[in-house]
Amino acid sequence: VSLGVLASGSGSNLEAIAQAISEGRLNAKIEVLIYNNPDAYVRQRAERLGIPAVLLNHRHYKSREALDAAIIEVLQAHHVDLVIMAGWMRVVTQVLIDAFPDRILNIHPSLLPSFPGIHAIDQALNYGVKIAGCTVHIVSLEVDCGPILQQAAVPVLPDDTPSSLQQRIQVQEHSIYPKAIAEYCQKL
Ligand code: GRF
Repeated sequence: VSLGVLASGSGSNLEAIAQAISEGRLNAKIEVLIYNNPDAYVRQRAERLGIPAVLLNHRHYKSREALDAAIIEVLQAHHVDLVIMAGWMRVVTQVLIDAFPDRILNIHPSLLPSFPGIHAIDQALNYGVKIAGCTVHIVSLEVDCGPILQQAAVPVLPDDTPSSLQQRIQVQEHSIYPKAIAEYCQKL
């Protein structure tokens, strides 16, 4: 299965997926990384992993739809079957969903449907939940919605900070995302 990864930041999930592939836990190939922030660390990871990286800076597009159209062009040029959002901080439009119906996955750092959106970890801490976690789901138009494929829970500890909780969650992300992709690929 040919994967296209969309990422905006550090890219630790990209790396975890690449590692699962190289260890034979995931039968797929990452054909291309698309990133939107010129300085994102994910670019350096892609270079090290030998993954072609394409910068599509959203600031240069008039609308979300125009960015998505450019994304589709790159994905199709690389014959991508499945789109993997790994810390992609742009809101998706119907344009991308129509081009890849039920073929876009996302990972979110909460136990959805709790705490969708960009402040999930802060909100979980502020709310005082005792269990946090992460979710892999199929992308639908509404942000952080769509059918759930995998979840993992972690405890929230009394002295947690956003960063300590995030680190605990990310360990689980790196474990469930490759697994969820592998299972989903079997159904394609
Ligand atoms: C992850 O925590 C993911 O849940 C969220 O963005 C973060 C991306 O991390 N959507 P990384 O760039 O893969 O390290």
